[in-house]
Amino acid sequence: MNKLTTLMCIAGLGMLVACSNSGPKSSEDSEVLQARIDSLQQMLDDAYKPGLGEFMSGIQVHHAKLWFAGSAGNWKLADFELGEIRETLDNVEKYCTDRPEVNSMPMIRPALDSVGKAVGAQNPAMFKTAFVLLTNTCNNCHRVTKHEFNVIKIPDTPPITNQVFTK
Ligand code: HEC
Repeated sequence: MNKLTTLMCIAGLGMLVACSNSGPKSSEDSEVLQARIDSLQQMLDDAYKPGLGEFMSGIQVHHAKLWFAGSAGNWKLADFELGEIRETLDNVEKYCTDRPEVNSMPMIRPALDSVGKAVGAQNPAMFKTAFVLLTNTCNNCHRVTKHEFNVIKIPDTPPITNQVFTK
């Protein structure tokens, strides 16, 4: 045998071995595989996913922190809190696809952009106006999604006492 033939023989043998070792050999094997897939699917279905209300409760805290940070001219913290709201809204769109209310989410984006501009410009007057717009938009979405009884307002006192909001 020359070198090429030897190589081809080895490759051929390799393929034979590979073929005989892979893929279901019988219907019994495919049943085992199907059972595996079903149990993995079940595990995925049972995996914990926060609900829309839990995401909203997180957004509620960030909304309040954003207000106290921005009002104190703590723009770095305000920018961070705004980012947290955006991230949570992204997660709502990713994980709450079973909730038709999520279709109304785009309405909040321009209000968030206005707050972002005010924070970027470090402008207290712009920040107040944009924050009012943001809060009204939270409520507008609650109205269109028939959750108008969840009324959001500008907070009077910091939501949390173990964090510093001033600069
Ligand atoms: C896409 C529309 C939409 C937008 C925008 C939205 N919400 Fe909501 N929100 C909902 C829906 C729907 C619920 C009811 C969730 C549920 O069924 O548990 C809710 C519930 C809430 C709750 C009650 C949560 C609870 O379980 O106690 C709070 C607080 C809340 N939202 C805050 C906010 C704030 C603050 C904003 C604005 C920064 C906001 N939401 C923007 C749709 C929206």
